[in-house]
Amino acid sequence: MSNIQQTLSIIKPDAVERNLDSEIKEIFINKGFKIVKEKKIQLTKSEAEQFYKVHETKPFYNDLCSYLSSGPILVMILEKENAVLANREVMGATNPKDANEGTIRKKFGISIDKNSVHGSDSIDNATIEINFFFKD
Ligand code: CMP
Repeated sequence: MSNIQQTLSIIKPDAVERNLDSEIKEIFINKGFKIVKEKKIQLTKSEAEQFYKVHETKPFYNDLCSYLSSGPILVMILEKENAVLANREVMGATNPKDANEGTIRKKFGISIDKNSVHGSDSIDNATIEINFFFKD
C-alpha cells in the first residue's frame, strides 16, 4: 500500500552561507523526493525559539536558537513514500562525526550545531513544522 508523506526540511545557515543549497536540493531530488514548496527566509531569535520549543529544556537550546536565526535558511516541504524516515536516512546522524558515508551531514556538516540540515523526526512533528512555515 502506498504511504506518501510530507516532511519538513531546513537547509541551515552554515550550508546556505556556503552556497550548498542547490547541491543539497539535488541530493533530495535524486533520492526521489518532490520539493512541494520552498522558501528562503531568516528567522528572528524568538521565531527560532518557537520552532525548537521541544528542546526548550535542553542545555543547548539558547545556542541552537541563536544559530538558526543567525542567517538565511531554505525551508522545504519534501514529499515521498515514507518521507519522514527517508529524509532522516538521507540526512544521517545528528552529529556529523557519527553520520554514515553518503549522507548529507557526513558530506557537509561541520559540527553537531552546524549540521547543515534539519528534518522532522516524526509524522506528527512534520505536520506541526510544515504548518509553522507554510500556514496558508
Ligand atoms: P536538529 O535536527 O535541527 O534538531 C535540534 C538540533 O539541536 C540538532 O539538529 C543539532 O544541530 C542541535 N544540537 C546541539 N547539541 C545537541 C545535542 N547534544 N544533542 C542533539 N542535538 C543537538
